[in-house]
Amino acid sequence: MENNHIYPIFDRMLSREDKENLLNQRGLMIWFTGLSGSGKSTIAIALERELHKKGLLCRILDGDNIRTGINNNLGFSESDRIENIRRIAEVSKLFVDTGIITIAAFISPNNDIRKMASDIIGKDDFMEIYISTPLEECEKRDVKGLYAKARKGEITNFTGISAPFEAPQKPALSIDTSKLSVEESVSVLLELILDRIKLN
Ligand code: ADX
Repeated sequence: MENNHIYPIFDRMLSREDKENLLNQRGLMIWFTGLSGSGKSTIAIALERELHKKGLLCRILDGDNIRTGINNNLGFSESDRIENIRRIAEVSKLFVDTGIITIAAFISPNNDIRKMASDIIGKDDFMEIYISTPLEECEKRDVKGLYAKARKGEITNFTGISAPFEAPQKPALSIDTSKLSVEESVSVLLELILDRIKLN
């Protein structure tokens, strides 16, 4: 029996708006860029906790859950970094389209790579945050001991040492974690995003 005309509403997936209304929030991509050890993941985690307390649903994507999983076949050549960010942006777009506040913490070392991410996600949903902690400070922290290895030549193509990092030209916000505490960083971020993500 031809019954398409009776139930046409079942033919389409629920929209982003349906999901945003369910969650009572708007989807947004918060894209942290900056050197290794600059504090991207730390701030992402603290921001997620604050937003969660306010009843807002987030998803963090960072090296720990992406480079060990979906991107575990990628390294740090220029083309692998592009593919890394392309997949991250495509996955993030699905989260943003579900109404989720999506927080990415990746070096994403140059303007072209970040523009690709913004083009995939859509610039109206893409907020670029530069974690501008200076190289000297990141190297002093050397949380994972990678800067020391890079200086000795044991790791090649290391961002800031043997591979370039291009600072973003017009980030929505810059945060230098050698000057601001995690709490202060989260507070300036909240000021920037809360109006954009809350529905009422
Ligand atoms: S990106 O350049 O492709 O965006 P991504 O953020 O995923 O990089 O991964 C960076 C993390 O991988 C660093 O914080 C560091 O722990 C680790 N890493 C290992 N090798 C390198 C390298 N050659 N350059 C930069 N980071 C590296």
